[in-house]
Amino acid sequence: MTVAALDRAYAALDRFLLSRLPERVAIPMGQWGLRLLPLDRLPVFRRDDPRLAVTLGGVRLPNPLILSSQYYDTAILRRAMGLGFGAVTAKSITRNPRPGHPQPNVVRAWSPEGPGLVNCNGFHNPGLAAYRRDLARLPHRVPLIVAAAGESAEEYAEVVAGLAPFGDLVELNISSPNTKLVYEWSRKPAELERLFRAVRAVTDKPLIVKVSPDFREMNEDAIVPAALAAGIGIVNAGNTRRIDEPRLSQKAGGLSGPAIFSATLDNVRRLRTRFGAQLEIIATGGIDAPDKALAALDAGANACAYFTAFVTRGPLLARRILDALAARAR
Ligand SMILES: Cc1cc2nc3c(=O)[nH]c(=O)nc-3n(C[C@H](O)[C@H](O)[C@H](O)COP(=O)(O)O)c2cc1C
Repeated sequence: MTVAALDRAYAALDRFLLSRLPERVAIPMGQWGLRLLPLDRLPVFRRDDPRLAVTLGGVRLPNPLILSSQYYDTAILRRAMGLGFGAVTAKSITRNPRPGHPQPNVVRAWSPEGPGLVNCNGFHNPGLAAYRRDLARLPHRVPLIVAAAGESAEEYAEVVAGLAPFGDLVELNISSPNTKLVYEWSRKPAELERLFRAVRAVTDKPLIVKVSPDFREMNEDAIVPAALAAGIGIVNAGNTRRIDEPRLSQKAGGLSGPAIFSATLDNVRRLRTRFGAQLEIIATGGIDAPDKALAALDAGANACAYFTAFVTRGPLLARRILDALAARAR
């Protein structure tokens, strides 16, 4: 089957089945499909082209496209590594297991720009010790970015030290709007400086700081300079945007998808202008089509990432973006 035919098949599946089911059914069904179907064995999902390779923190990625953080199931991460991405990010892990927030914790969000999501997932994860055992069995077909979250500098340092041996890069999530303690980091730049120094001391792996689109000035004036001063040279801009959402159990959550794309683009441009070549930038937020990925890279990003469009546009999107990148590499 061709790329276009498979893409149409997913659009039909989404239109006639997935989008008609309640989120609490559609999301587990999609994840079940991902685990079960050996899509990663089909070459149609990939494009191996050495011209697309980039480096991030000195690590070679076969292309600049990254699956953003959400999945922790290593069976899914393993499949995703064969679906065209140049790197795959695991979910943010905390020291202790967390049940996450009760259902409903993800709902669809419709905007004039296209379909998105609002989530208050609340870091549902198995905790550091159990996750280390899972990661030890995950081969890296492409680089793996492991991700840490926490409530104190000490917790971040412990989680980073525990995860780093299993990842090629390590992301610090200081920006998810779904738990007050993580979201609050952006309001505490002095404590963040301590956090950055503490995590830098426990690993030599390249570190990424993932920032919130809700704190643009703080990111530019305090957080990125503190990261650079501590030896953290990569910023992921960024996470979801906090909004009120009465359908969610927490009555608020993080908006993702195309409604936040223009802010992502603007943030990438501003960061590149302000910090120049000393900073590597991952553009995340609302990329759901090849032209948006190209625009993010043209705005100054070294790599670009998405999660929501993996669900709303399907697993062929990565291949379509890679085709667009290859077409202009000629
Ligand atoms: C259900 C859900 C769970 C997420 N979990 C995490 C997480 O654990 N850690 C993190 O850094 N970002 C998490 N994110 C944010 C995404 O990685 C991404 O930064 C954000 O959704 C914006 O990109 P997008 O518009 O392409 O989805 C999550 C997003 C969604 C929708």
